[in-house]
Amino acid sequence: MASLTSSLKLDRYSKQNPWYYQNLTNHLAPDSRKLLEEYSNILPKDVESHVYKLRDTLWSQAPYPCIGEFKFLTLNLRKHPKYTHLLSLMQPSASQPGPFLLDLGCCVAQELRSLAHAGIPSSNLYGSDLNPKYLTTSYDLFNDASTFTGTLVPANIFSPTLFEDKFKGWQEKFKVIHAGLFLHLFDREQQLEVCARILKMLEVGKGSMFLGEMVGCRGGGERGPKAKGFWKKKEERRQFLHDEESFAAMWEDVAEATGTKGCWKVESQFRERAKGAGDGDGGSKGCAFFTGVGIGWITFSCERV
Ligand SMILES: C[S@@+](CC[C@H](N)C(=O)[O-])C[C@H]1O[C@@H](n2cnc3c(N)ncnc32)[C@H](O)[C@@H]1O
Repeated sequence: MASLTSSLKLDRYSKQNPWYYQNLTNHLAPDSRKLLEEYSNILPKDVESHVYKLRDTLWSQAPYPCIGEFKFLTLNLRKHPKYTHLLSLMQPSASQPGPFLLDLGCCVAQELRSLAHAGIPSSNLYGSDLNPKYLTTSYDLFNDASTFTGTLVPANIFSPTLFEDKFKGWQEKFKVIHAGLFLHLFDREQQLEVCARILKMLEVGKGSMFLGEMVGCRGGGERGPKAKGFWKKKEERRQFLHDEESFAAMWEDVAEATGTKGCWKVESQFRERAKGAGDGDGGSKGCAFFTGVGIGWITFSCERV
């Protein structure tokens, strides 16, 4: 018989949820710690208490697994196969503003802070997320309210008035758009819509690039989160995960729908989670939350050629 506790559905804000980790031990990667020490100027002895405190602030705002599990500090972009190329694309121009980069679904915009720390002028960095509180709290998390001059805009990527409102002036603006752990939140049809909007925001010239990483699955298809009922009833989702083939097929459909067929070099790498591996192993952030066979991690890039 199921125990009383497992049969009771915990409140999303409950700190008894399994994805609210009690201890930071082994969950703060060395590069994230370094960012807090070097970019945010937090004393090494104060880093952990700072992370616990800000994690609780974020949890009270939106208790997603990536918050409970301290993954909001994970830096995936710097491990992406196109990272070095991205840095070269983002070198400031002497003759015109930019180039600009957008991190879509950026949460606390940790990737933008990492790019600023790597020397990209923060005024060229843009981030957007559904949750305005993640964005405002990010200045406390990174201690950079007076130094980060990037633009953080709260918005729902599906808003019908997006380009007249929150993303006004953003059509064809960005040299690079990044989406980390974002597309897999949606079903395939929604992913097509998101990608079409991304494409609308990319510079039209050769070399502009959309890239990211997310949970994937061998064969491509719909998979649900392990914890049934995690999503609020009204937003219960069918999430589509990709491997190399299904991602390429999806981008073909995006290109077809946007009249840009033949304009893209699409590359991706899918790696299945090793049997028994924990989440976070080899950059598998988020995988542990998914059930079913063939779950893994996919990095992708779509470059305009
Ligand atoms: C799994 S988190 C990934 C965060 C971050 N990119 C990272 O890699 O750590 C997904 C993010 O997407 C945001 N999000 C979800 N639905 C969205 C939507 N419709 N429009 C914009 N952002 C959304 C969430 O608020 C959350 O911060």
